[in-house]
Amino acid sequence: MINYNIVRKFPRHSTRFAKRWFNNKPITVIEIGTYKGYNAKDIFKNLNVKSFFAIDPYKDYGEEGKDNKDLINAKEQAGFRLKEHKKDIFFIKEYSDKALDKVPIVDFIYIDGEHTYHQSKRDMINYWDKLSPGGIFAGHDITNPRDNYGVARAFVEFCAEKGLKPYISRTDWWVVKPLKSRIMRCCDTEYIVEGLEKEYCQFCDREMEEEQDD
Ligand SMILES: C[S@@+](CC[C@H](N)C(=O)[O-])C[C@H]1O[C@@H](n2cnc3c(N)ncnc32)[C@H](O)[C@@H]1O
Repeated sequence: MINYNIVRKFPRHSTRFAKRWFNNKPITVIEIGTYKGYNAKDIFKNLNVKSFFAIDPYKDYGEEGKDNKDLINAKEQAGFRLKEHKKDIFFIKEYSDKALDKVPIVDFIYIDGEHTYHQSKRDMINYWDKLSPGGIFAGHDITNPRDNYGVARAFVEFCAEKGLKPYISRTDWWVVKPLKSRIMRCCDTEYIVEGLEKEYCQFCDREMEEEQDD
């Protein structure tokens, strides 16, 4: 007897995580490398997306063995596949390095452009500041052997350098951007607060305010 094991490509595992994490909250998204829009469409299907910035030059890029043929009509196919989200999707036809100042800070970033070590690492470093605290920074092809497992090397280094907790599942990698801690003082007590909720002094019950730098 044959055992058929069907592996579902979508939703990608970082999208499944994001679905639970954001819990239907409206979010903004950047995808580096949108290609024909398969993953973008799935992100729209699973998450409550307000706006989606699709960065892809649709031009030759520095991965060995890749050529332009694959990209002929890819942008048109993405547009067609995503037509029902037309008003919420913004195509930025640039390499990721050049698109940085054309996108706002968002809640979910998915990196799936050039899978070399150098470009993956550069995308992680450059786009980290484009993610809001509590947001998800993710990407594809952690198991891709290209460039001697370039994506995996870049991700492990990036997490070690920033002290982040890495998640890897199937072909995806991701981290959650820690919420900024805030320092508050009241009743001769210093509070270090994680998260964005209102905080109340444990002694006088008054709502506290964040201490401002001079
Ligand atoms: C593997 S495909 C992306 C697949 C898509 N994310 C999906 O899952 O449906 C890689 C895409 O990255 C794009 N790309 C390559 N280098 C890039 C860069 N530096 N910035 C943005 N996109 C890039 C390519 O044009 C190509 O369309």
